[in-house]
Amino acid sequence: MATVTPAEALPENPFVQDIEEELPSPTSLVVFGGTGDLAARKLLPAVYNLRRGGLLPQKFDVIGIGRRAGDHKRFRRHAHDSIAEHSRTGLDDDTWKTLESRLEFLQGDFDDPKLFKELAERLARHDSRGGPRQRVFYLAVSPAFFGTIAKSLASVGLGAGAERPTRLMIEKPFGHDLETALALNDEISSAFDESQIFRIDHYLGKETVQNLQVMRFANGILEPVWNRRYVEHVQITMAEDIGIGRRAAYYDSAGAMRDVIQNHLMQLLSLVAMEAPVRFDANTVRDEKVKLLRSVRRYTQDEVPDYVVRGQYGAGWVGGEEVPAYIREENVPDDSRTDTYVAMRVEIDNWRWAGTPFYLRCGKRLSRRVTEIAVRFRPVPHLPFARADIGEVEPNELVLSVQPDEGASLRLVAKIPGQSMYVRPVQMEFKYGTSFLGDSPEAYERLLHDALLGDATLFTRADEVEEEWRIIQPILDTWRAESNGPAIYEAGSQGPPEADELLAVRGRRWRQI
Ligand code: BG6
Repeated sequence: MATVTPAEALPENPFVQDIEEELPSPTSLVVFGGTGDLAARKLLPAVYNLRRGGLLPQKFDVIGIGRRAGDHKRFRRHAHDSIAEHSRTGLDDDTWKTLESRLEFLQGDFDDPKLFKELAERLARHDSRGGPRQRVFYLAVSPAFFGTIAKSLASVGLGAGAERPTRLMIEKPFGHDLETALALNDEISSAFDESQIFRIDHYLGKETVQNLQVMRFANGILEPVWNRRYVEHVQITMAEDIGIGRRAAYYDSAGAMRDVIQNHLMQLLSLVAMEAPVRFDANTVRDEKVKLLRSVRRYTQDEVPDYVVRGQYGAGWVGGEEVPAYIREENVPDDSRTDTYVAMRVEIDNWRWAGTPFYLRCGKRLSRRVTEIAVRFRPVPHLPFARADIGEVEPNELVLSVQPDEGASLRLVAKIPGQSMYVRPVQMEFKYGTSFLGDSPEAYERLLHDALLGDATLFTRADEVEEEWRIIQPILDTWRAESNGPAIYEAGSQGPPEADELLAVRGRRWRQI
């Protein structure tokens, strides 16, 4: 691959970083669902910011495919407005001008073979205009179309064995359960080679999630204590203050377990707990993650109630605003038993972690938005100080904060200045905002750029997705058979009290959200 310093590409641009980045080959990016919500909020702004950062090749076109009537002009206007509204750097006219004419629209039904013939012709025209391009197909559409689109692309020579480098990017959800995920993997792999398939879990594109690996594997002091001998337990929290908005059609049949535990939290778990990969390349890293996921204990139906708690938000107050109960949200049935909160204890049956529980917790309409990983170390074996009551001797805790206050902090115990031997916890802190200048790229920018470069390290491999489903499937089966539904928690609270019981052994308690 050719490399340029981004500064050569767009010299006067303040958003260009001074680190040399690789530049992708000439590309045609095809977005199925080009006029949809995801394209508007994430993809088009990501394309724009990559262009602005000098990270796209000169020859780069986007074909947005939509089912409703449209034309290039309307699509460009839509892209302009979406970028203006959602881009993290706003919209600057000079960059927009370099992109505008590269955006095209193609209308068609995803199950109509004619669309794919036209697409193949359009792509061939791009090639004849300025030399061959690689093709990247992005499926920002309902999962019901994933298989059909993949197979239709292959039927016109745009899948496995295509004459140009070709990639397929797929959004979640990847399957509704283990069975459908396996079937989908089969269907897609009949049309594309696994090396061409880039399954997105946008958490892997987050700067702080990538930093987790740097923290673990570039700092020598952590490895000796990163195991069951020194770590008492780990808490991984992904709390949100938002409700489900207008996503009832998807969310009510998914629930928190499928929506975020199966993917984002399982990814965080594997990155925290996996062994060190020998190289940071796609297959080596993913081999380690799969190995870790395989060592996560599968619960029997009898065990599920002891290890997993599900909840659903009731009415309450969040951020000073009164909000309705989940069952009063638009298009949610009154008797819905969908989980909007899950807390679970995960046991990892391997030499590094046996006996050290990992607690995962996620939920909507909690008191605030926070994603973090808290590693609680074992207490000291003996306190040599004379007085019994010297203050709060809390064990050390390392907290990696994914969002919103990106950074890390380590809790230590320190002496309070003065004549007496009193102590209290203090924090050693690193914050992205103060340690590094500049804005981090959005997860979608990083992921799109990596896919354009053909680097699959931050994408989920078929066997990874399958292992994630294998872990949660027994829980979903148990819930389906249970007569009682989720515990109701007040919106704006810390979640259902039942989740506290899950943790309440050996003085453990959840960190305050
Ligand atoms: C998505 C889920 O994958 O992640 C949403 O479908 C959730 O329900 C979102 O709100 C959270 O992402 P982030 O990046 O805001 O933490």
